[in-house]
Amino acid sequence: MDSFTPIAKTTLDTQALVFEDESDFRVHGSVYTDDQIFNAEMRDIFGKCWIFIGHESEVRNSGDFKTSFIGRRPVVMSRDEHGEIHVFFNRCRHRGSVVCREERGSVKRFQCQYHGWVYGLDGTLQGVAKHKGGYPDDLDKSRLGLMAVPRVEIYRGLVFANMDANAITFTAYLGAAKPFLDIHLDRAPDGEVEVVHGAHRTEYRGNWKFQAENSTDGYHGDTVHESFFKLVAEFGNKSGQHGAYTQGDLDEIFAHRMTGRTLGFENGHGIWESPLSPDAAENMRAGPFADYVDWLEGKYGTQSMHEMLNAMNLLIFPSLAVLHGQFRVIRPISVDRTEVAMHFFKLKGASEAYNNFRLSGYQRFFGPASFGSPDDVEIFAFNQTGLQAEEVEWLLLSRGMARETSDKLGVRVAESTDETPQRAFHRAWRAHMGA
Ligand code: FES
Ligand SMILES: [Fe+2]
Repeated sequence: MDSFTPIAKTTLDTQALVFEDESDFRVHGSVYTDDQIFNAEMRDIFGKCWIFIGHESEVRNSGDFKTSFIGRRPVVMSRDEHGEIHVFFNRCRHRGSVVCREERGSVKRFQCQYHGWVYGLDGTLQGVAKHKGGYPDDLDKSRLGLMAVPRVEIYRGLVFANMDANAITFTAYLGAAKPFLDIHLDRAPDGEVEVVHGAHRTEYRGNWKFQAENSTDGYHGDTVHESFFKLVAEFGNKSGQHGAYTQGDLDEIFAHRMTGRTLGFENGHGIWESPLSPDAAENMRAGPFADYVDWLEGKYGTQSMHEMLNAMNLLIFPSLAVLHGQFRVIRPISVDRTEVAMHFFKLKGASEAYNNFRLSGYQRFFGPASFGSPDDVEIFAFNQTGLQAEEVEWLLLSRGMARETSDKLGVRVAESTDETPQRAFHRAWRAHMGA
């Protein structure tokens, strides 16, 4: 440890807080504990990147809404009378209260609870309570609608918003990670997914980046989830929620997949894939979901079918993870407080029985009374406590650097327990924080 190069003394010198050379990758502890850095992240990361707001299926009908956050900024996603989706700040133009207090629902209009101003589903200001005498008769309501978030893009039903009017398009932002998001959606026979059960939420006393890093961390499973794996070993793993890569690259990558792998992408996105289980398809075919396996094989071919039956966790920088049939949304509340909302999604076109089977697998590891997520969240709180020993300074994220390679798309690839996605995350973090 003593041989490390000197650290940044000013905590706001963000470029010095992520250190990298050929064999060493470190992140400074203040990145997780410093209030000023947290505030800068809200501006430079959550104010510049594409942030997941929700799925179209959550606002299926006109009048439906869902509230969410872009960093700390409260937003509302609504579907108006013409079927169009809007995302605006959940902030009344009068004196700033939220106009929508519920997580989701259906309304004809939004009324602020403080003084009663009324807004349409498209955000327009429709009425000012006790207008007469208090304001000019010709008050220009057209300038007082709910403020729209500058950019909204919908990708295969996923609604993303960006605070930066000049941001690159969402698909450009996804870059080489796009085919991996497609894989999650291509598992649906109808080519799209549906969020139908709302979300289950958990909050932890730790920095938001712990959950972002952990979503693609293949190194912690044997320790944090030891009890789960013991159960699996005892009773046998008969579940079958799995993942994949793209057409064309499959031969090249297949060898890697026998041991699993991690990937790191340019804009901070990352992937963890579990070791391929060659019998997964045959095991499933022997069970009640043979028709689904047959459909996968018919549509994508035998090799891709195997790939698509394996687990693949995708982190879309900075705060959305798509894994095991869920959209996992990480919401930073303060430097040491985070909410995680997990939205299970159904595969449209798959049988009810198969979707229920997926749901029970999800509940077993990720649900409120499960064996997986609650253990992770507890670790994040311990991380935050450990980092209070500020004198130690650095976290080490160099695992697997020596065996990391770059594939033909420029994507970094290493083994399943390596910290390749976490390094990609922090490179992007540093780039945004310096911009
Ligand atoms: S703050 Fe909304 S009506 Fe006054
Ligand atoms: Fe975990």
